[in-house]
Amino acid sequence: MTLADPFGRKVTGLRIAITARCNLRCLYCHHEGEDPAPSGRREISADEIVKVICAGASLGIRRVKLTGGEPLMRRDLETILARLPEGLEVSLTTNGTHLAGRAVALAGAGLDRVNVSLDSLRPQAYRRITGGTEEDLKRAVAGIDGALEAGLLPVKVNMVVLKENEGEVWDLIDFARDRGAILQLIELLERPGLGIGGDIAGIEAALEEGADEIVTRDMHRRRKYFLSGGEVEVVRPMDNTEFCAHCNRLRVTSDGKLKPCLLRNDNLVDLAGADGEEMKRRIEEAVGLRSPYFCGGDEKER
Ligand code: 5AD
Ligand code: SF4
Repeated sequence: MTLADPFGRKVTGLRIAITARCNLRCLYCHHEGEDPAPSGRREISADEIVKVICAGASLGIRRVKLTGGEPLMRRDLETILARLPEGLEVSLTTNGTHLAGRAVALAGAGLDRVNVSLDSLRPQAYRRITGGTEEDLKRAVAGIDGALEAGLLPVKVNMVVLKENEGEVWDLIDFARDRGAILQLIELLERPGLGIGGDIAGIEAALEEGADEIVTRDMHRRRKYFLSGGEVEVVRPMDNTEFCAHCNRLRVTSDGKLKPCLLRNDNLVDLAGADGEEMKRRIEEAVGLRSPYFCGGDEKER
C-alpha cells in the first residue's frame, strides 16, 4: 500500500517535529515552517508520535525523520523509539550538543542514523550563527563522533551555507571526510530582508570541477559529489523547479498537526484524539491536501 497525493506524488516519509524547544537560536532557523512557538503551546505527546507513525507505517510510510526544535530536548525520545514498528528507517536531525551521551542508547532503542547541524568549526562564527558557546561547539563535534561510534550511520553533517561560513566549506569537507561522515551543504531558505545566504552556486561549480564522480539522487534531485575520499551532498530547494515534484514526505508539527507543505500553514490537519483507522483517515486527508508549492500547484487545483 502506498499513499499518493492528487498530483501523483508518492508519500513514503514522515517528518515529525517532536518539540519546538531548542537550546540554540540559529540566525536562519525556519522552525520547520511553524509559526514561531508561542510559549504555552502544547507539545505532541509520546503516544501521539507513536500512533501517527504506526498508522503511517500501515499506509506505506517507510522513513521517519524526527526533528525539532531540538529533538534531544525530549527526555522520552529513547522510550518513543523503542515503541516504533520494525522495518522503518528512523533518523534524527539534531544540533548535536546533547548527542554524545545518548548516542548509544538512541541506537539501542532503534534509531538508524542522524543528521547533525554544524555550520562552523570556528567558535566565533559558531556563536554568531547559532548563539552557542565554544563549549556547545565542542559538544556538537563530540556528538558527531559519538554518533559515528554508536553506528548511527551514515552520519550527515548539515551546513547551511551563509556569507558568514562559506569560506569554511573546504574545512568542513575535510572534517567530515576524516571521520567518514557525509557533508550536506544546504541552501539557506531565506526570510525576506535577511540577506545572509552564501554563494552556494559558486561552491557547487567548484565541487563540479573537483569531483571524481557526481550522482543525482531521486529525492528533491539532490546532487552528490565524491571528491578525494569525501562525500558532499548539495540541497538547494530555492533553485530547483523539480524540488516539489519530488517531495515525498508529510510533516507533523510539534503541536500535533499534519502539515502537507513546509511552506504553508493554512491547510493543517489536527491529529489530536485520533487512533487506528481514524488516524489513517486523517493522514489520507492531509495527503489529499498536498499540492506542489513552487510549481503552480494552487493554479492547477482551481
Ligand atoms: N534554511 C535552510 N535550512 C534550514 N534549517 C533550518 N532552518 C533553515 C533555513 N532557513 C535546517 C538546517 C539545519 C536543520 C536543523 O534545519 O539543515 O541544519
Ligand atoms: Fe533552529 Fe535547529 Fe538551530 Fe535550534 S539548532 S535554532 S532548531 S536550526
